[in-house]
Amino acid sequence: MSLKVKNLNISKGTVELVVSGEVHCNRGERVAVVGESGSGKSLTALSVLKLLPESLKVSGEITVDGKEVLKLKGEELRRFRWEKVAMVFQDPSSSLNPLMTVGEQVEEALIFHGFRGTEKELKERVVELFKLAQIPEPEKRINAYPHHLSGGLKQRVAIAMALACNPGYLIADEPTTALDVTVQKRILELLTELSQKNRMGVLLITHDMGVVEEFAQKVFVMYSGYTVEEGKKEEILKSPLHPYTEGLIASSPKLTGRPKRRLPAIPGNVPEPQERPPGCPFHPRCKKAEEICRREVPPTLEVEGRRVRCFFPNY
Ligand SMILES: Nc1ncnc2c1ncn2[C@@H]1O[C@H](COP(=O)(O)OP(=O)(O)O)[C@@H](O)[C@H]1O
Ligand SMILES: [Mg+2]
Repeated sequence: MSLKVKNLNISKGTVELVVSGEVHCNRGERVAVVGESGSGKSLTALSVLKLLPESLKVSGEITVDGKEVLKLKGEELRRFRWEKVAMVFQDPSSSLNPLMTVGEQVEEALIFHGFRGTEKELKERVVELFKLAQIPEPEKRINAYPHHLSGGLKQRVAIAMALACNPGYLIADEPTTALDVTVQKRILELLTELSQKNRMGVLLITHDMGVVEEFAQKVFVMYSGYTVEEGKKEEILKSPLHPYTEGLIASSPKLTGRPKRRLPAIPGNVPEPQERPPGCPFHPRCKKAEEICRREVPPTLEVEGRRVRCFFPNY
């Protein structure tokens, strides 16, 4: 049972926003997709739920527990979202309705997804979900409006709502980016616990190698529309194969213990998709780049069970 994305390509007209995306997450596993802003992480996440705007063309293989996502539609697609794969976004306010109490919103989600039971059972289920998301005083908190709650609590409500249908997978797109460091840590601990308790695969999208270190078991590194490296967290952090991964680690204050400067190890920015250079998209920022890197897109090499898209990986 797993969530798999292979050869994912997302285009708008002639511009490839994602050129070749790969992700793999088993039930009960914690996987991170990491890369700077503009790498294609969110588009990749949205494609798994078939939530991309109509104007974008998607191809590739996306399967969840064997089901082909790109073929889903109508009622089957509606059930697939939330019941198989649920999503939590960066800004919890945007997924909560300011005019309803948070309890009512979770009740509504439960009813929408087929909860059959009395008023009392419904309320009990909401309290149970709030407890699961470790919201203190759940009986009281269900009556709060979103603006009564801190950012961290709102994110817990969004997580409680995502758990309503007991999904096999949870995709969280930068869920802690808006939160301060201690709250961030507790949310990551909560996701880890839920992953274990519910045997849920958690796919966490982040630009922060510190978050990867804290949370993930497996890592996919994205750069300018390509998955450039994948491997186990320990391997990736200890011996990154791709110069980009190496740069991300070197620029993470949490991992190096040095205060953050602007990506000291990687000068420059992720190119806009319409301005992606020929060859390896990372070559203009890469200290190891040679002639071939400017000319050809590197293939993905398999190195001792690890995968890297680079002509001159570190080994
Ligand atoms: N609907 C869209 N139309 C055109 N370009 C888009 C659209 N959505 C995203 N993009 C572009 O695709 C690239 C990848 O976006 P995104 O997946 O949001 O990156 P990330 O989440 O890694 O920051 C960015 O350059 C972004 O501007
Ligand atoms: Mg994003």
